[in-house]
Amino acid sequence: MTDTEQPLAGRVAYVTGGARGQGRSHCVRLARAGADIVTIDACGPVAAHNGYPPATSEELAETVSLVEGEGRKIVAKEVDVRDLDGQQRVVADAVEQFGRLDIVVANAGVMNWGRLWEISPQQWQEVVDTNLTGVWNTIKAVVPPMIDAGNGGSIITISSAAGIKAVPGCGHYCATKFGVVALTNSLAVELGEYGIRVNSVHPYGTDTEMGNDTSMWQMFADHQNYIHSFSPGALPTDTLAAPDLVSDIVVFLASDASSLLTAAQIPADKGYLKV
Ligand SMILES: NC(=O)c1ccc[n+]([C@@H]2O[C@H](COP(=O)([O-])OP(=O)(O)OC[C@H]3O[C@@H](n4cnc5c(N)ncnc54)[C@H](O)[C@@H]3O)[C@@H](O)[C@H]2O)c1
Repeated sequence: MTDTEQPLAGRVAYVTGGARGQGRSHCVRLARAGADIVTIDACGPVAAHNGYPPATSEELAETVSLVEGEGRKIVAKEVDVRDLDGQQRVVADAVEQFGRLDIVVANAGVMNWGRLWEISPQQWQEVVDTNLTGVWNTIKAVVPPMIDAGNGGSIITISSAAGIKAVPGCGHYCATKFGVVALTNSLAVELGEYGIRVNSVHPYGTDTEMGNDTSMWQMFADHQNYIHSFSPGALPTDTLAAPDLVSDIVVFLASDASSLLTAAQIPADKGYLKV
């Protein structure tokens, strides 16, 4: 393998929400690019109002075997991103085992539907706790050891097209994904002097359990005018995007090929945000 084929050789990546979907794809693609992987996932119900099934222990085990199939090492733990102590423990163990931490993908997230004044305090809190506080917990766990290692690095947060353009029917989710942008850009400025870059990725409809959540159709049936806020992209959008295509962007942001980029919001949306 050449450096071009394995631009992340010798590096270590921490990915949250790695049991399935985009998180699993990022684990596999970062491993293929040469990185060893540390990943966590709740592997169970996270938010009562989700209209799609939770991830399982078996799915996390499948991620482990896929990464090992790429010839890389992986540590995978069942930890919820809402558990700060748990994230700090996993990161400390990983740094002890691998000796460094270079790449972070704050990917774990949940989504559900409801108008802002109709959702319950519980529905609000569960989404905020995972999508926003969970990302802050990740930042709090990873940044001190990355600074100590002195190797620079790349932190990639997974926001959403709904973190740039607020849409109806999931305002609580939008609020968390806009919040992720604020965390990203503040952190980028704070970490610049340490050579650590921080950028956000903004997927639109992606082919995962979350992306195939059919409970959104009830929202559109009840409020047909909302459909206009979910237009197709500029590129053909007859299918949801494969997670692997989002991973192309994540691997680019993890590698030195993106060394000029920090505090940037990278769309993975086929041009939807400009339509
Ligand atoms: N699928 C889409 O269309 C889409 C679009 C834009 C943004 N996103 C974002 O992409 C990211 C990945 O989502 P996905 O599409 O792969 O969905 P997914 O539901 O298939 O995967 C999410 C993973 O995160 C894990 N997770 C959720 N909450 C957790 C918690 N509290 N602690 C630990 N793990 C937790 C889940 O168990 C699951 O394995 C999310 O942040 C999501 O908001 C998705």
